[in-house]
Amino acid sequence: MTPPRAIIRATRARLSRALFAAAVKGYKRLMNTPTSPVRPPEQRPPWDTLLPIPRSLVSDRRPLIVGHRGARGLAPENTLPAFEVAAELEIDGVEFDVQRTADGVLVVFHDDTVDRTTTGTGALADLTLEQVRALDAGARFDGRFAGTRVPTLREALDYLKTTRLLLFIELKDPWRFPGMEQQCVDLVRELGLGPRTQFRSFYHDALHELYRIAPEISISELWDDRLPADDEVTFKTVDAPHQLLTPQNIRHMQARGQQVTAWTVNELERARALAEAGIDGLCTDYPDRLLALFG
Ligand code: G3P
Ligand code: CA
Repeated sequence: MTPPRAIIRATRARLSRALFAAAVKGYKRLMNTPTSPVRPPEQRPPWDTLLPIPRSLVSDRRPLIVGHRGARGLAPENTLPAFEVAAELEIDGVEFDVQRTADGVLVVFHDDTVDRTTTGTGALADLTLEQVRALDAGARFDGRFAGTRVPTLREALDYLKTTRLLLFIELKDPWRFPGMEQQCVDLVRELGLGPRTQFRSFYHDALHELYRIAPEISISELWDDRLPADDEVTFKTVDAPHQLLTPQNIRHMQARGQQVTAWTVNELERARALAEAGIDGLCTDYPDRLLALFG
């Protein structure tokens, strides 16, 4: 018979996953976030043509350690200093977000507006590159980083090419930036970074477009309020909030041929539990902490 304490623990965990999912769902409804439906099987890429997560250039460790928005706990998010920290730490890769300015230039940036992370105000998509470049993207994090600029994707990739980091490039809200898939692919190809890149997005139509134009580059599907069901398996990597993951569902997704990565794992105990469950990669604001755990 299962001891009552184990039942209580399992019920609590199930409840907290359900609450997390409901909160994300509610937030998306509030923000009117568009989603693209899972496509029917005949419209999915042939399974055998899909690529796994690129191999690390610096280690054989599992899980891979990936710096979230560079290494946003240690330097201003989505900036060159954050990428430099990640490179110095010799973690496996960096995750970062891409959007587009009003005059059509891809930049590395997370929020809809520039208010939280820079000295400016307003919607990023309404600003020209010149206006974005006038903002300080470092001072709010710490005075030591004053003068840091929002990098263009080209600038970020130019720097990252000099490192051994894998690149986990998230296309943020691509429905707002028609054609950004091709722009991202063109840059990644021009710099020869395809073999160490994985594209990702919550908006799965963009992933299908990326596969159509660049099947040689790995793709990860992002999920936030639930995990893909057995009849929804589409791409070979699933990236999900760690709050939704359990040893059982990780193993289940892996058994059907998918690799599983989690965001954003900052607590050592949680990182250890996910590693024991066999997760393939962990995205973290504090790669230094995870390094201490997994070396
Ligand atoms: O990899 C997915 C993760 O980065 C999504 O979270 O909001 O930090 O882009 P967010
Ligand atoms: Ca992201």
